[in-house]
Amino acid sequence: MIKNNLSNTSTFKNPLIQAKNLSHSFDYPLFEDINLTLHEREVISILGVSGSGKSTLLHILSSLLKPKKGEVYYGSKSLYNLPQKYQTKVRREYLGIIFQSHYLFKGFSVKENLEISSLISKREIDSEILKKLGIEKTLLQNISDLSGGQQQRVSIARVLTKKPKIIFADEPTGNLDAQTAKEVMSEMIEYIKSINGTMLIVTHDENIASMSDTIYRLKDQTLFHEPS
Ligand SMILES: Nc1ncnc2c1ncn2[C@@H]1O[C@H](COP(=O)(O)OP(=O)(O)O)[C@@H](O)[C@H]1O
Ligand SMILES: [Mg+2]
Repeated sequence: MIKNNLSNTSTFKNPLIQAKNLSHSFDYPLFEDINLTLHEREVISILGVSGSGKSTLLHILSSLLKPKKGEVYYGSKSLYNLPQKYQTKVRREYLGIIFQSHYLFKGFSVKENLEISSLISKREIDSEILKKLGIEKTLLQNISDLSGGQQQRVSIARVLTKKPKIIFADEPTGNLDAQTAKEVMSEMIEYIKSINGTMLIVTHDENIASMSDTIYRLKDQTLFHEPS
């Protein structure tokens, strides 16, 4: 029997998403020939300085941006070769995307913001999630009356309400103090493990990254695996 040492070193077996030979550029090349696999139950962080292309890579992996080169496989299907309406279906049914700027509906209450997600996904708002994120008492408050940190937690609650199989989170704890950031990360990790999903986090915070199973660094147009 031929042994594959590479796969034997990983605790994670079942790939959910495989990115192959991704390259992208805007005014200048951002990254070249990147390969990355997200396995069931695996939490991955991507570290990198501002402008290194982390958000762009997250958008490519999460169905929002077609790469200049390379493929993103969801199971055996090449995502960007699927008809647009199936790409939208994948995004709606399986993905939870937490954006760097959180796109909440200002002028509406926390409850109304969560109800939109609940309506689209046909899932009830889960009061346990709200309690764990420490925002259960803010339901009737207007989004614009909340602190940046509370808004960030509402945007995380909104995504978790959908009960996605796969979470992409772009600097999800950027507005939180260290202790709250850690607690929010723990909640997200516990959720994704409990449903055998996978989560990819983009962050510049080494402490947050250290809570994940696998850490990469985007640097010099390449994705480096960090020793754990
Ligand atoms: N839609 C776009 N059009 C043109 N340039 C872009 C676009 N999105 C990002 N960029 C540029 O690509 C570079 C990397 O951006 P980004 O992926 O947001 O990096 P990071 O998230 O690591 O800070 C930046 O120089 C940014 O200005
Ligand atoms: Mg970014």
